[in-house]
Amino acid sequence: MIKKAVIPAAGLGTRFLPATKAQPKEMLPIIDTPVIQYVVQECVDSGIEDILIISGKGKRSIEDHFDRNFELEARFQEKDDESLFNQLRHIENMAHIHFIRQKELNGLGDAIYHARFHCGNEPFAVLLGDTIIDSVIPATQQMIDTFEQYRQPIIAVENVPAEKVSRYGIVGGTMISKKLLQLNEMIEKPAVDKAPSTLAVAGRYILTPDIFPILEKTPRGKGNEIQLTDALRILLKHHGIMAQIIEGKRHDLGDKLEFLKTTIEFALKRDEFAKPLREFLKQIIREK
Ligand code: G1P
Repeated sequence: MIKKAVIPAAGLGTRFLPATKAQPKEMLPIIDTPVIQYVVQECVDSGIEDILIISGKGKRSIEDHFDRNFELEARFQEKDDESLFNQLRHIENMAHIHFIRQKELNGLGDAIYHARFHCGNEPFAVLLGDTIIDSVIPATQQMIDTFEQYRQPIIAVENVPAEKVSRYGIVGGTMISKKLLQLNEMIEKPAVDKAPSTLAVAGRYILTPDIFPILEKTPRGKGNEIQLTDALRILLKHHGIMAQIIEGKRHDLGDKLEFLKTTIEFALKRDEFAKPLREFLKQIIREK
């Protein structure tokens, strides 16, 4: 059973400036819900309720978001607005959420290293705070199921077009079933001609505590940061690691066009917006 999750959310979000100058990128909303709430919901839907968010400078609003807001609660109670009141209570009670600050931005590997005391001797899930995976079975649940079977760290991957390979961690290995690979290689953001495949690390991991002593010693890599991919590559020398192609649609919300597309897709799934938005989209496309 995996009971703990880590959500790294300390990054600066430079790709989303100026929106992220004074607010965390994880709080940018898809319609009306901050991205990080979708990620926490995925944990909860996968049976995980003990979550550590790796936070940092300028990220206080994430803590406030998952805290109680008595003023709003009182207002909706007064107005007898049960639906909004319940929504608030839902967010406040989603999970046990803890925070730790990454004081210096030394990379994803360093962020995960901050979780060593929280995770102790247990395997844990990692969910990157800027990725949503829309799926019938939550992505983390799919990976937990695989972990229970193989007891090896599991890395979510997805096939990406060759021109996007240099934006991601890329894995290489042997397919052992339609969706599972036994890994023999991992490279962080390789040039396309150095990449072992087009399977990109997709923002979800199931890790074991074996990673912590390695992270402690992993030298700085790509971008002069301590890379989780580099630590996993060291682990791979003496430990099996698997990659899993996730069933579902991944939305990389660090990318502006992806963000826009996700907003439209999610809105089209909501009854209140589907019809008028579809009509609007048809109309502006006709006009172009
Ligand atoms: C991180 C990881 C990379 C992974 C990516 C997924 O990179 O280092 O291996 O493919 O997340 O979104 P970042 O996007 O933080 O640069």
